[in-house]
Amino acid sequence: MGKVIVIFDKLARYALRSQRIPQINCSLTWGNHIKRHRSTGLESSDTREMLSQLPLFASGEIVKGFGRGSKELGIPTANFPLEVVKSLPESLPTGAYYGWANVDNGPVYKMVLSVGWNPFYSNKEKSVETHMLHNFNCDLYGQILKICIVGFLRPERSFDSLESLIAAIRADIEQAKGLLDEADKAKLKEAPFFTEKRCPSK
Ligand SMILES: Cc1cc2nc3c(=O)[nH]c(=O)nc-3n(C[C@H](O)[C@H](O)[C@H](O)COP(=O)(O)O)c2cc1C
Repeated sequence: MGKVIVIFDKLARYALRSQRIPQINCSLTWGNHIKRHRSTGLESSDTREMLSQLPLFASGEIVKGFGRGSKELGIPTANFPLEVVKSLPESLPTGAYYGWANVDNGPVYKMVLSVGWNPFYSNKEKSVETHMLHNFNCDLYGQILKICIVGFLRPERSFDSLESLIAAIRADIEQAKGLLDEADKAKLKEAPFFTEKRCPSK
């Protein structure tokens, strides 16, 4: 686990058209067929270049986080193990993202994603946490989470209060809902990646 494969535009377009997302024994796959990106508020050209490579497909087992997502925030998250976190390109900016996700090849749901150190909690390890817009009502530990990171919402930051953090994530969720209804983003829900039986990262 942990290899990163970059799929350039022509190949990614072909893969999406032919309903095949190439995966070469990896947990991450890039495709950059979405050309238009909203302003990110991030200045570096490296960052813009990195974000222009989205969407990014990744998969891995769901592991335990600190459990604050469901207990304190009322916004449960599915956490990737450290090896998946480390396999993400270092230049992928920390912050909130939106996209699609499924568990064990099940239905694909809208999601928001946090990549970073959660400055509000001063975490020591970087984490990648997915909040799916679906009520699972059960433990997902040990199951395989597949995500398609479609776009960037905002940089991560600290907050004065728990309420402000919750409000920011709720705003991310509302923004994600609308963006994922746009045709070019909605079609990624149908990517064969989500239903392929063989999970190369396992
Ligand atoms: C969409 C989204 C955005 C987030 N943005 C921030 C942020 O800006 N700052 C921060 O400290 N934590 C942020 N978080 C992370 C939450 O603090 C984190 O999900 C919570 O600490 C639960 O983590 P745990 O499940 O490991 O306990 C965000 C989480 C999500 C899902």
